[in-house]
Amino acid sequence: MGSNQQQQRVVNVVAVFFFLVLIPVTQSLPFIVLHGIGDQCKNGGVTNFVKLLSDWSGSQGYCLGIGNGMWTSWTKPLLKQTAIACEKVKKMSELNQGYNIVGLSQGNVIGRGIIEFCDGGPPVKNFISLGGPHAGTASIPLCGSEKVCTLIDSVIKFGVYSSIVQNSLAPTGYVKMPIDIAGYLKGCKFLPKLNNEIINKRNSTYSKRFASLENLVLYYV
Ligand SMILES: *[C@@H]1O[C@H](CO)[C@@H](O)[C@H](O)[C@H]1NC(C)=O
Repeated sequence: MGSNQQQQRVVNVVAVFFFLVLIPVTQSLPFIVLHGIGDQCKNGGVTNFVKLLSDWSGSQGYCLGIGNGMWTSWTKPLLKQTAIACEKVKKMSELNQGYNIVGLSQGNVIGRGIIEFCDGGPPVKNFISLGGPHAGTASIPLCGSEKVCTLIDSVIKFGVYSSIVQNSLAPTGYVKMPIDIAGYLKGCKFLPKLNNEIINKRNSTYSKRFASLENLVLYYV
């Protein structure tokens, strides 16, 4: 979502969706927003986005932060980020009758992680995914800050599917190199589990939970 125009288009799509699809079936259900990599809930962009959706839909919206947002989103493995998010939604009594998830970029795979892995969590009714890397990416997202770039350079030489890299750079959890699918299935710690791709470790609970959504919107950017 580089340009304002693009952002505006995305916001319009979500707004139309809220008006036409969500409101009639799920009036007053609250929603959470999961932000993208390098972002944080207190940033203006996310804050305004949550507020716009709340104003337009009349539903209560919350930005769900994990750790300190910016650094955590880059460095904490996604299984751990998902576990933290799961504990948070369980503690939010506002969500216990059901809620919707709106994901931005990396936040989408965490959203899907909540839907699939969060045992005992409140029910997710609708999921709107904006630019989610659900099928993986073939590279690390562009560096946002110098500190992060140094880290990326120093760890990537160990190989993207090595434990050290998987444990220290969150986006490697959804790097799917087309030239090394075997390495991906063996070493990548997040997406293969999320997508039930490892043949002898498939878990039908994950697919059942995902299929229980009332509406799924996938917006491609
Ligand atoms: C599948 O996932 C569910 C939910 O997390 C878990 O309770 C169950 O033990 C898992 N089954 C297997 C075979 O791993």
